[in-house]
Amino acid sequence: MSTRKLIRNGVLVTASDTFEADILIEKGKITQIGIGLVPDERTEIVDAAGGYVIPGGIDPHTHLDMPFGGTVTADDFATGTTAAAFGGTTTIIDFCLTQKGRPLIESLQEWHAKAEGKAAIDYGFHLMIGEMNDQVLEELPQIIDEEGVSSFKVFMAYKNQFQADDGILFQTLQKAKEYGALVMVHAENGDVIDLLVRQALAEGRTEPIHHALTRPSMLEGEATGRAARLAALADSQLYVVHVTCAEAVEQIARMREMGYRIWGETCPQYLTLDQSIMDQPDFEGAKYVWSPPLREAAHQDVLWNALKSGQLQTIGSDHCSFNFKGQKDLGKDDFSKIPNGGPVIEDRLSILYSEGVVKGRITLNQWVDLCSTRVSKLFGLFPQKGTLAVGTDADIVIFDPSVNRVISADTHHMNVDYSAFEGMQVQGCPVTVLCRGEYVIRDRQYAGTAGSGQYVKRNKYDAGAPIPMKQPVTALNGGRS
Ligand code: URP
Ligand code: ZN
Ligand code: ZN
Repeated sequence: MSTRKLIRNGVLVTASDTFEADILIEKGKITQIGIGLVPDERTEIVDAAGGYVIPGGIDPHTHLDMPFGGTVTADDFATGTTAAAFGGTTTIIDFCLTQKGRPLIESLQEWHAKAEGKAAIDYGFHLMIGEMNDQVLEELPQIIDEEGVSSFKVFMAYKNQFQADDGILFQTLQKAKEYGALVMVHAENGDVIDLLVRQALAEGRTEPIHHALTRPSMLEGEATGRAARLAALADSQLYVVHVTCAEAVEQIARMREMGYRIWGETCPQYLTLDQSIMDQPDFEGAKYVWSPPLREAAHQDVLWNALKSGQLQTIGSDHCSFNFKGQKDLGKDDFSKIPNGGPVIEDRLSILYSEGVVKGRITLNQWVDLCSTRVSKLFGLFPQKGTLAVGTDADIVIFDPSVNRVISADTHHMNVDYSAFEGMQVQGCPVTVLCRGEYVIRDRQYAGTAGSGQYVKRNKYDAGAPIPMKQPVTALNGGRS
């Protein structure tokens, strides 16, 4: 294991630039970027010929080792982060669930215990806010300042489970503004969905497709618009997770045009799969039960255009894997009991490259921005992570754009018995992945160590306030106004 590595012959791609250069890595950091860098005898040469050299992917949305829907996600921090690394991701931000009446810090400690000694790449946590009271209010500053958790998740759906009311959401937004955090929402109208689900079941509509039909896109648009307006009223910042449809994009775009700090994420599944896949026989549709659900195909163009135009800013995997046999089948006779979620952590970068860059829907630099840089900036990791620059962590992926492959459960590394993208042809593959300068994947083989991933404390949300001048402007112009 060499602490000095020189990556040569690759094409560097950042969120803004594409250029040929070498990268020198020392003690886990990038220490030089330049043309024709000369190694000494202690330096290992890493040949990136023919490849793109990009900052490691940062996945802002994962659920590992998480109890949900009467079971626990199939991937834990060992299998999930290993699969993430195969897919070119070097940092994840996982959702820490909380429970009413339980100190937030205890939930965080529980999530630390799940990850420690297991993670193969770096990780941070978002924290769910399900209630607002004196205890929560007292803990929030410590959670942000000392624990490095600067994003909170509020669920507007999953009634009687995670759902919070508008008052809780609004107060979370107010506190996030005050303390410097980003509020994330699962935006669907949980009350109306709950009613539609009960009505469908009462009428004997139990198959997986009814999961989608009882969660119409209008209810995602409504909740997105409501959350965005509450954020505007609180003069706060909002990040809408897993945006799936035109109605939600429209709300985000409208509020952004008015100058509000509203951000949106979508996921590979909503860009490439549509609702018709849920209407297959033999319960096959259960494999594709996500909330919000897959939409009709027409929404995909809207999502791609929103990524291209900047109306949506990030790609999360929303990795929440359940086996088809033994987990998804909990809902064999009742779609509302199918655990919601699917396996995506390994395929995020590849699908975005193949379906996005290769098909001309986004540029190479947008790909890096969506999958890494913008995530880093929004979630307080920049400039430590998310770009290629002197002084940053050497989280680096060599991505070979010439590899053609087929996504399949037979070859993936996620701990789950099916692939949501089975049979999809993709062009391009991460071949070598470094986390803080150490191999996690080397020539498409695992070379990492469970437990080498480190917890990353994140900075506060940066609302982009003007940097105070060192001296007042009046002093600069001699006091003349
Ligand atoms: O179906 C999904 N998205 N499962 C994960 C939990 C969530 O809502 O993000
Ligand atoms: Zn969600
Ligand atoms: Zn999720």
